[in-house]
Amino acid sequence: MKVADLALKLVPCTEPYWEFVRTLRMDERVAHGFIEKANITPEQQKKYMEIHWSAFFIALVDDVPAGYAGCVDGDIRACVHPDFQRRGVGVFLMREIMKRFPNGIARVKIDNKACQRMVAASGHVIHHLI
Ligand SMILES: CC(C)(COP(=O)(O)OP(=O)(O)OC[C@H]1O[C@@H](n2cnc3c(N)ncnc32)[C@H](O)[C@@H]1OP(=O)(O)O)[C@@H](O)C(=O)NCCC(=O)NCCS
Repeated sequence: MKVADLALKLVPCTEPYWEFVRTLRMDERVAHGFIEKANITPEQQKKYMEIHWSAFFIALVDDVPAGYAGCVDGDIRACVHPDFQRRGVGVFLMREIMKRFPNGIARVKIDNKACQRMVAASGHVIHHLI
C-alpha cells in the first residue's frame, strides 16, 4: 500500500542520519541496484558526509528513516530501505531531488527495472548503463 502523502517527509541529511545512509547503502538487499559495490567504514562516511551532507536528503515515513537521495557531481542516487520499498517513497525522493538538482542525471543499470520505473514515474530522463 502506498504511503500516505501526510506520512511522508523530506529532511536534510544531518549527522544523525549518516549511519542510516551508510548501512542502507551497504545492505546486500539493495546492492544489485548500484553500479559500484560499497564497503564504507563509519569514519569514511563521516568524512564524506562532512563535505556532501547538504546534497543528500532523507525520506521519513511517520518519522522513521525510509530512504535517501542525493546528487553529487551531477549524479543522482537514491535508495529505499527494503521494508519501505514499492510504496511510493522512491518516486517521492526522485521528485524532491529533481526540484533541488534539476540538471542531475540518473545513471541506471539496464537490468534495474525498479529504478527505471521510479525514474520514469517521477518524470525524469534516464541515462542507461549496461
Ligand atoms: C529503485 C528504488 C529506490 C525504488 O524505490 P521504491 O520506493 O521501491 O519505488 P516506488 O515505490 O516509488 O516505485 C516506483 C516505480 O517502480 C516500480 N518498482 C519498484 N520496485 C520494483 C521492482 N522491484 N520491480 C519492478 N518494478 C518496481 C513501482 O511499481 C513503481 O512503478 P509504477 O509507478 O509504474 O507502479 C528501490 O528499489 C531501491 O532502493 N533499490 C535498490 C537501490 C537502487 O537500485 N538504487 C538506484 C540506483 S541510483
